[in-house]
Order: sequence, then structure tokens, then C-alpha cells
Amino acid sequence: MNYRHEFHAGNFADVLKHAVLVRVLLYLRRKDKPFRVIDSHAGAGLYDLSGPEAARSGEARDGISRLLEGADLGDAADLLAPYLDAVRAAEIGALKPPRFYPGSPLIAQSLLRPQDRALFCELLPEAAQSLRRALGRDYRVKTVEIDGYAGLKAFVPPKERRGLALIDPPFERRDEYERLFDSIGAALRKWPNGTFIVWQPVKEPEIAAAFCRALAAQAPDWLRIELQVEAPAPGRPLARAGLMVVNPPYVLEEEMKIVLPALAGALARGPGAEFAIERGSAEDHEA
Ligand SMILES: C[S@@+](CC[C@H](N)C(=O)[O-])C[C@H]1O[C@@H](n2cnc3c(N)ncnc32)[C@H](O)[C@@H]1O
Repeated sequence: MNYRHEFHAGNFADVLKHAVLVRVLLYLRRKDKPFRVIDSHAGAGLYDLSGPEAARSGEARDGISRLLEGADLGDAADLLAPYLDAVRAAEIGALKPPRFYPGSPLIAQSLLRPQDRALFCELLPEAAQSLRRALGRDYRVKTVEIDGYAGLKAFVPPKERRGLALIDPPFERRDEYERLFDSIGAALRKWPNGTFIVWQPVKEPEIAAAFCRALAAQAPDWLRIELQVEAPAPGRPLARAGLMVVNPPYVLEEEMKIVLPALAGALARGPGAEFAIERGSAEDHEA
């Protein structure tokens, strides 16, 4: 395992993923009933943007830093404010440029209520240890050093029956898509009304699309979201990333129609910045 999220923390793909995560959490909070978050590939929890990895890649500068430094978000400002608040909450003081970026577990933790729970799976021992440290003592959260796919199998469905699973693998193994697909299929059968947020890099659009089609065939309700920050070109860093949200909150599509154009504008690295939204619903399948 070579993947280190320290290089990518706070980049455009993290912004997309975490902005959506926050919108789904806010929707779950609309009801008092408890919910559970399961994060299958949780990461180290808190990333130092002034550290050597982040400084070398510079990815956060074209990602979260732009938003924190006041990029014009137009109509999307209100929808993105809770995400930016969660990011600012991880900062120690009001540092400029920002120094720390929270990973998905800290962002989720910031939106848990006393009755909610979160379970974080992380295979790399050092990352799991950092994550425990970053989360601090909190009866609502638990970090398990386990393969995230095994974790999904073991911990789904949660006893609350409401909630979300974030599946955010590093895509460094050749069989990642197969493992992803098999484990989501099994998890969906056990937890058909859970919301599943699956992240993927879009390097080869045909492969990404084939994965989404295969997943859509198993799940009638889904929302596919993609953000591109410049026209992809060989030798350039990742330019497009996507999320497949299975069982999305009904408001998410409308929210994304406002958020995605704003992110494509604010995070553009060059010509060719764009976004895509595609929706499949149970009605389409019945028709
Ligand atoms: C993309 S990062 C996660 C980022 C995190 N979800 C976030 O949004 O802040 C992927 C993480 O998965 C971990 N990992 C790799 N293979 C894994 C596996 N089979 N099960 C669980 N974690 C794994 C890596 O160590 C890395 O920390």
C-alpha cells in the first residue's frame, strides 16, 4: 500500500466529496432519529497543508485554499457554507494560508449529534493511529483497523437503519473496481435504504462510466456527479473526479445543480472546466 492522502488533501476532488458528504449529513439531521456514518477508507483524519507532501503537490492551493480565500461562489455560497465551517473548525486560529484540512471522519464528526454514531475503517496502522488522535475522546465514534470492504460486510446494516456509507478507496490496486463493486452490491442487499457515496477518479471516462452503469443496474435510485477542473491531458494531474450517490436525498440533485457550476468556476485550473449530473430513479425503472 503506497497511497498517502497527505499529497491530495484539500484538492478539488476532496472539495467535491466533502461538500457532498456535508449535504447528505445535513439531510440526515433533518429528523431526530439517530443515524450512522460508515467510512470504509477513512484516512488519517487531519492533514497538515504546510507539511512536505502537501507542499510538494500543491493540490490544496487549487482546491480548498481558493474557497477559503474568498472565491466567488454566487448562489452556492449558502449551500457550501456548512462545509467551509467544518473545514475552518479544524484550523487552529485563523491562519492564512490555511494550515490544516480535515478528512472525511473529522467532517462527519463535526455534524454528529449526541444520538448519532460513526464507524471509521482504516487499514494502514499509522493512519488509523493518527485518526484516533485527531478524533479525540468521543463516545460517538469508533476507529477500526480493518480492510474497508471487510468492514462494510461486517458493519452493514447498522442498527440505526438510517445513515450513509462513504466508500473512498485509493484506486491503487488493479482489482479495486471489482472489490468495490462486489462489496457495494453485498452491502446494498443488506442495507437497501442506506445512502452510499462512492468516490472515483475519472482518468479513463469509459471505465468510470461502465462502473456507474453497473452500479446503477443494482440500485434504482442514484445520482452521478462529476467535476472537471481542466481538460484532461497526458502528464497533467488528475483533472476529473466523480461520485456515485446511491439512494441520494431527494434534495441533492437540485443542490448539485447550484453547487457544481460554482465549483467548476471557482476551482478551474484551465480551459475545459465543467461538471455533469445524471440521475436515475425508481420511477424510471418502473416506467
Ligand atoms: C482516499 S484516502 C481516504 C480519504 C478520506 N476518506 C477522506 O475523505 O478524508 C484512502 C485511505 O484508504 C486507506 N486504505 C487503503 N486500502 C484500504 C483498505 N483495503 N481498507 C481500508 N482502508 C484502506 C489508505 O491508507 C488511505 O488512508
